[in-house]
Amino acid sequence: MKQVNIALIGLGTVGSGVYKTIGMQKSYIEHKEGMSLNLKKVLALNYAIEIPEALKAKDFYTDIVQDETIDIVIELIGGVNPAREFVLESLKAGKSVVTANKELLARHWPELNAAAKASGAGLYFEASVGGGIPILRTIWESLQANELTSVMGIINGTTNYILSKMEEDKAGYEEVLKEAQQLGFAEANPKNDVEGFDAMYKLSILSSMAFHARVPVEYIFREGITNITREDIAYGNELGYTVKLLAIGKKRGKTIEARVHPTMIPKTHPLASVRGAFNAIFLHGNIVDDIMLYGRGAGDMPTASAVVSDVIYAASQSRHRYTSFYNEANVSSELSFENNWECEFFIRILAQDSPGVLAKIASVFGRHNVSINSVVQKGQSGESVPLIFVTHRAKEISVKCAMDDIRYIPEVIKVANVIRVEK
Ligand code: HSE
Repeated sequence: MKQVNIALIGLGTVGSGVYKTIGMQKSYIEHKEGMSLNLKKVLALNYAIEIPEALKAKDFYTDIVQDETIDIVIELIGGVNPAREFVLESLKAGKSVVTANKELLARHWPELNAAAKASGAGLYFEASVGGGIPILRTIWESLQANELTSVMGIINGTTNYILSKMEEDKAGYEEVLKEAQQLGFAEANPKNDVEGFDAMYKLSILSSMAFHARVPVEYIFREGITNITREDIAYGNELGYTVKLLAIGKKRGKTIEARVHPTMIPKTHPLASVRGAFNAIFLHGNIVDDIMLYGRGAGDMPTASAVVSDVIYAASQSRHRYTSFYNEANVSSELSFENNWECEFFIRILAQDSPGVLAKIASVFGRHNVSINSVVQKGQSGESVPLIFVTHRAKEISVKCAMDDIRYIPEVIKVANVIRVEK
């Protein structure tokens, strides 16, 4: 039987899941795939679980790179450094690499791809987007007949948990974040998740695969969920919307838009029912029409499912395939990235309740070519009242300019929030 010798770098949450999966599924994989997965070395700074001393690597170069019997290196330490060196050196030595590292891939994909191509090694990263959801290989191997024109995903479980909980418990952001941290759903330093960086890296990979064009992180608009309040969620609910942190990619001809931001979607949208720490990705292809994949986007075992499946896939290839894009390293002149997209907007303004205020605000919208679909005034007359506007489709920059002017209307106390709406 074919022996596949593996080195594992990183033994945190996902690394432990991979370690357990290789042990648990060993004989099943031998029987089904005709290969024996043999974990030869584990390199880690901290060991989240007990492993035999003999497995522990002391040095990356002598114990992994220079060990010619190691076929596949699994990188699970996250972040760019030193992961980049580990991945590049492994690829240069002809070892295939399986990684879950979205930041590394989003930032250094051309370099890693070139190193893999040069040595003939494979580079696999299914676990980098959507944890256990097999989204990338589905795009690569099961949707080839299609030009994909849109991807829309809930690809960060932490923020989806927080927003779902705020809606269910009618609670504030800070309160729910604290609870999520206590339960282990959010990191002690939540910035990467709540500010949308994690979703941005994942969208870079996902939309690059979907659109056959590399979408560098520098071209992705990013806004996190820290400004979403219980009031936004409650008023959105009344209008039939739920709030999600969406990663959105759209392609029209050679123009791409890519953005991560809190988004109001109708409660009837398939993504609205994705709650808690789950992820889902909704795709549109010109032949297949709409497709949605749903599952656990994080966690030790779901992510290990993607990692170990990549190992099996890599080991069964006689020749590895490489991603190719219109724009290998840089953005080619053929492609353009849109930053003035069009969508509907939910706008919450606090204003004094006096005659003519609504008319003043409406006239600013009109001046900037932003058409109002509906407006609701909440609450009784008093110091200040919330005014909720939902616009028709309008350009991002027009709405931004309108809001800049509205802030200067003396009766406007504050523009409390502007949330994009997607149907
Ligand atoms: N921190 C990510 C999330 C999981 O909350 O979805 C790892 O990609």
